[in-house]
Amino acid sequence: PAELETVQTDMIIIGAGIAGLFTALQAAKDRRVLMITKKSLFDSNTRYAQGGIAAVISEDDSPEFHRQDTLIAGAGLCDPEAVDVLVHEGPDCVQALIQYGTHFDEEDGHLALTKEGAHSQRRILHANGDATGYEIVRALADKVQSVPNIEVWDDHFVLDLLTEEGECVGALVQKPDGSRVIVRGAATVLCSGGTGQLYRYTTNPEVATGDGIAMAYRAGAVIRDMEFNQFHPTSLCYPGAPRFLISEAVRGEGAVLRNIRGERFMDKYHPQLELAPRDIVARAIVSEMELTKSTYVYIDITHETPDLIKHRFPNIYEFCLNYGLDMTTDWIPVAPAAHYMMGGVRTDMNGESSIPRLFACGEVSSTGVHGANRLASNSLSEAIVFGRRIVDRIGSLPPLTVEARTGYASERIGTPAGKMAERRLKLQKLMVRFAGLRREAHGLAKGLEELRRQAPLYQTEMSAREEFEYANLLTCATLMMEAALMREESRGAHYREDFPDKDDLFWRKHTLMHRERGIG
Ligand code: SIN
Repeated sequence: PAELETVQTDMIIIGAGIAGLFTALQAAKDRRVLMITKKSLFDSNTRYAQGGIAAVISEDDSPEFHRQDTLIAGAGLCDPEAVDVLVHEGPDCVQALIQYGTHFDEEDGHLALTKEGAHSQRRILHANGDATGYEIVRALADKVQSVPNIEVWDDHFVLDLLTEEGECVGALVQKPDGSRVIVRGAATVLCSGGTGQLYRYTTNPEVATGDGIAMAYRAGAVIRDMEFNQFHPTSLCYPGAPRFLISEAVRGEGAVLRNIRGERFMDKYHPQLELAPRDIVARAIVSEMELTKSTYVYIDITHETPDLIKHRFPNIYEFCLNYGLDMTTDWIPVAPAAHYMMGGVRTDMNGESSIPRLFACGEVSSTGVHGANRLASNSLSEAIVFGRRIVDRIGSLPPLTVEARTGYASERIGTPAGKMAERRLKLQKLMVRFAGLRREAHGLAKGLEELRRQAPLYQTEMSAREEFEYANLLTCATLMMEAALMREESRGAHYREDFPDKDDLFWRKHTLMHRERGIG
């Protein structure tokens, strides 16, 4: 690495969803920012967010209500301090989003607010009906492109983080032509999203391959709570169609779930019915699918007027219509799909990981906000609140001084034989089988054994991006299965068939994983 070209900047941001864009804008007021994205500013999970962003806006709402809802959904594993940060600082950060040019929907001259699962109040802001993420990315990416202090490298892939004397000093980056460059900065912020691509059925785009979690783990950061992967209850399940998200806001506006016999069933599972916490709705759907020997259930909003449906959910309506499904008259077939990783790189209240100068923001992080189960629409709020905090913290960091011997964090390792797409698919099927909505010890042990068999395939130099992505997925899969095997209880999104109850006496704690110190 010493012979490689080196680029110096003040702050390096890896990833371009809401966390990366917002943090870059906040930071660029008085420093140079380099944003590195493996595709473009328009390819992230944020872009696909439909329902919205949660913040206390209404006079009927209060931070205390939002706090309670978040803590209940988190099933005893949220960090109350992180939740306080979210509920108190969220509204102000939403104002910053608006100042950056985001247009949220309005009603009678006020911000329009909807409700989603496990929220006691209407507090979800949305844009263009059901295209909230798209509008946020549009506004922030526009702004980023107009700020001279921000440089964007599209189509660059970060291979690994670089550390010197225990601190993160930057990253090793592969350019589109395959050559490599070292970037150095006083702060490196992972904003690289989650691990949706671990599963065969996911609402996430192709880019969600857990790169940030895997590279932080290799660099020696503490990773937390990887067993908590959230499955969204309602993704479109129709032959030939992708697993397109049917937003929880559709249930928030009164849609009901029916099994294939046409029976409403949520009253068997939870008093909040269709708006129960996500893990409960998702498992209830799977139970009904098994009961009726079907691969889907239906979501039914046909009792609403066509005008309301088309106005509130224009994109979902159009998308379904492309497949011959008319939401105003048809029940829509849906099934759960992998959606959000609650665990990730453990941070403090300033977004800093266990490695000094390495920060994590958004889905890649584990700030403590989400606990064992994320409350709908808290993820976009978490990203902006902690993005702003990271920038405040970075203000007090001394600049990087002498260039010491740079340690390339990776000891990896190898060109896998065979086609990467096939490999990825095989891994995704393995995860569905052994580490899906329901797990148990025997299956997890078998899954881990299978993952270990993949490891020797990495022995020589890798070069293609798909190979690195696959290696990162493999790391995340292993972390997830190990954590899931260790947690012998059921809590939030983690459900063990062999330990179906919550065990507050022994298990009201986090799983922590470290490359050298192991799991604990
Ligand atoms: C949705 O619109 O249902 C997704 C919202 C979220 O995952 O927070």
